[in-house]
This record gives sequence, structure tokens and C-alpha cells, in this order.
Amino acid sequence: MLSSKTIFVVGSGSMGAGIAQVAAVSGFQVCLNDLTQAQVEKAKDRIDKNLDKLAAKEKLTEDPDVIRQRLSYTDSYEKAAEADIVIEAIYENLEAKKEIFRTLAPLVREDTILASNTSSLSLTALAAGIPHPERFIGLHFFYPVPVMKLLEIVVSLYTSPETIAFGKELGNLLGKEVVVAKDSPGFIVNRALVMMLNEAIFLYEEGVGTAEDIDKAMMLGCNHPIGPLSLADMLGLDIVGAVMETFYKGFADSKYRPAPLLRKMTEAGLLGVKTRRGFYQYDETGKKI
Ligand SMILES: NC(=O)c1ccc[n+]([C@@H]2O[C@H](COP(=O)([O-])OP(=O)(O)OC[C@H]3O[C@@H](n4cnc5c(N)ncnc54)[C@H](O)[C@@H]3O)[C@@H](O)[C@H]2O)c1
Repeated sequence: MLSSKTIFVVGSGSMGAGIAQVAAVSGFQVCLNDLTQAQVEKAKDRIDKNLDKLAAKEKLTEDPDVIRQRLSYTDSYEKAAEADIVIEAIYENLEAKKEIFRTLAPLVREDTILASNTSSLSLTALAAGIPHPERFIGLHFFYPVPVMKLLEIVVSLYTSPETIAFGKELGNLLGKEVVVAKDSPGFIVNRALVMMLNEAIFLYEEGVGTAEDIDKAMMLGCNHPIGPLSLADMLGLDIVGAVMETFYKGFADSKYRPAPLLRKMTEAGLLGVKTRRGFYQYDETGKKI
């Protein structure tokens, strides 16, 4: 049975810790890995607190201590040998991610599924060169993982139908709604979303509306929970810009050109909430001023 299987998660940051938590709550045995013991301890603290909060809100069907027993933490890759599924969630860098899979591929079992949580890199490029690329798949979770319902499964040129079926079943067992996307820059969600953010920046740059009016228009006219310029500030203009550059390069089509103002604001270090200035200004707690 799939839910009795073991998941090894590489990278215990925002995404890795969230994936580990959701998987343990869903009944999987989970081993969470990071570079140092101090980093995994930090993730353990966060997960422990989250489980206690969920228990206090009566959102768990089991005692949090029972769930904690399914979680282990390590700064080595040794335990990947026991895993049925490895999910990589380190920082967004093709070479660093390829290095992880080069290291892990000889350690894991022949039938282990290897997955990446990349939000923008080519799954086909990540799979190239590993021994069983047909068992490699993109599992694109959204932040925060315990809250966001969607899992975007990304299929590389090598991924087998069996691996896709496995990914769908895994997503369902983790309580997610699953969509399947081809390995194309931005997959489904980020392509549509970041293009919309970029277009909103063009609107602002061309003086079609003020920042406030562009955000208000999209919230009230399209029922979006947040305006595109506020969202771009939240995500970080450097991140939005990097995604646009990936589209522009990946499709070699001027339709995907980043708004000049986006490039300029990034160069100027006006990155949004994290630098306290983007399309809006923010106080030290991240509140708009
Ligand atoms: N944050 C988001 O909103 C979001 C959403 C969807 C997907 N993603 C993707 O998820 C991935 C992780 O993002 P994040 O926001 O959790 O990053 P993060 O920076 O919070 O965490 C990355 C973690 O990986 C660890 N790490 C780095 N190299 C490692 C190695 N060689 N072995 C083990 N651990 C290593 C780091 O120490 C760090 O704890 C990225 O590919 C990102 O694009 C992020």
C-alpha cells in the first residue's frame, strides 16, 4: 500500500518541512534531510509547533506524538537507501539539484521514485543522466504546503505513465488536488500567474492606472484575493523577474519579455516587502505604510 511507504525529503526549508509535515500527517514514514543537524533541528521545531497548533484546533485525527514518531531528521543521505520516494526541495539551482540526484541515484533502490519540487527548472534537464529517468517526476507543491490544496505534477520527456499514476495517487493520499503539466517553462500555474503580474507591471509603467487602482481593479473585477502588484511585492521582484527571464529565454518569444520597469526595480534593489520598497512601501513587520 502506498501510504505505508517511506519518503525521504532533501532540504528542510519552507517547502521541504511543509512536505514532510503533510506526508507524516497522511501516514507516511518520513525522513527529512538538510546539510547540517542545526538546520534539521530548526525544521523539527517548526513541525512540532505546527502539529501542536493543528491538534489544539482539532484538525488532526491522531495524537501529534504518534505523527512525530513517523518523522526522523538527518544531515546524511544514508537513509535515502530505505526510501520508496525521494523528494528534493533544496534551493532553485539546476546544477545544485543535478548534483543531489547524481549523488542519490546510486544510493537508492532501483524502484525508488525520484521527484523534484522545482518551481521553474526543466524536469527533463534534471532527469537527464540519472540511471532511471522514467521514474523521475516533478511534484510542485505550493507554499504553505499544509494549506495549499494543489499539487502540480510535472512530466518530463522521460517520465513513464506508471510514474505519473504513482504521482497522482501520492498527491491524493497527501490530501491534494492534482493537475498534470508538461515540462514547459512555468508549468501551468506560474506561467499564467507570472505573465499576469508582468502585464500588471506594464500597466503601471505605461501609466494606465495607479498601483492602488490596478490592484483594486483585479481584486474587485476578477475576484482575486490580492492585487498583482501587491503579490509581486510579496513574492519579490527579483523572483518574478527571474521567472520572466526564464520564460523569455525558454520560449525565445517577445511575448514573454519582462517589463523594463521590473528589470530596473530589480537592479535598483527595490524588491518589494523584503527590502521594504517595491510598488508600495512597507514597515519592518512587512505591513504596507
Ligand atoms: N517557497 C515557495 O513559495 C516555493 C513554492 C513552490 C516551490 N518552491 C521550490 O521549492 C524548492 C525549495 O524552496 P524553499 O522556499 O523551501 O527554499 P529554502 O531556501 O527555504 O530551503 C532550502 C533548504 O535546502 C537546504 N539545502 C541546500 N542544499 C542542500 C543539500 N545539498 N542537501 C540538503 N539540503 C540542502 C538548505 O539548507 C535549506 O534549508 C525550490 O526549488 C523552490 O523553487 C518554492
